[in-house]
Amino acid sequence: MQRIIAPSVLSADFGHLERDIRMLNDSRAEWIHIDVMDGVFVPNISFGFPVMKPIRQASPKFMDVHLMIIDPEKYVERFVEAGSNLVTFHLEATKEPRKCIDLIRKAGAKVGISIKPATPIEELREWLPDIDLVLVMSVEPGFGGQSFMPHSIEKVAGIRKMAETLNPNLMIEVDGGISSKNARLLFDAGAEALVAGSAVFKAADPRQEIINMLNA
Ligand code: DX5
Ligand code: ZN
Repeated sequence: MQRIIAPSVLSADFGHLERDIRMLNDSRAEWIHIDVMDGVFVPNISFGFPVMKPIRQASPKFMDVHLMIIDPEKYVERFVEAGSNLVTFHLEATKEPRKCIDLIRKAGAKVGISIKPATPIEELREWLPDIDLVLVMSVEPGFGGQSFMPHSIEKVAGIRKMAETLNPNLMIEVDGGISSKNARLLFDAGAEALVAGSAVFKAADPRQEIINMLNA
């Protein structure tokens, strides 16, 4: 299985955003992870379209957009227009997962569904055949820099098992508290993409940390 690192811009220096994006452009990170928070679904507010635009302009990389907003069906098309290659919404945030899936796909992006640490993986079952990716949260969404929750490893393995029959091409991504110390366990459990915010941006050599995670 392939290994992808998706550095989270949430931990970048917003005063030097272009510099940080250029650093990622010259790194082995294939994706750029964009955390959008509305202050309602999660107790924090990050950024939206006006900040995504310069990131899209500064980088040719795959833009992996993680929506932590309620009623995402209202906005998913605009996120695709803003340059998202993948739009991931939270299953807990919408009464209309089907509508979200259809709107994202019709707009031309890949579709992801994320679940919070307490949400059982069984709730994904009915959606698995129709999506490209599951994003397993390994911290409570809302903030970077939290500690990894180890039960996420079993969740990844369980989803990988479910996907064997329902969607063998399903990608699994994990987000929260990830570094070169736990990356290997997650790749081995069946994850292909790992998000890393503080591990990358707080590292003395961020590009080397990305390599360390890939080689974990
Ligand atoms: C948390 C975000 C994460 C966060 C990860 O709600 O979804 O993407 O930025 O940051 P670290 O890697 O520092 O846990
Ligand atoms: Zn995220």
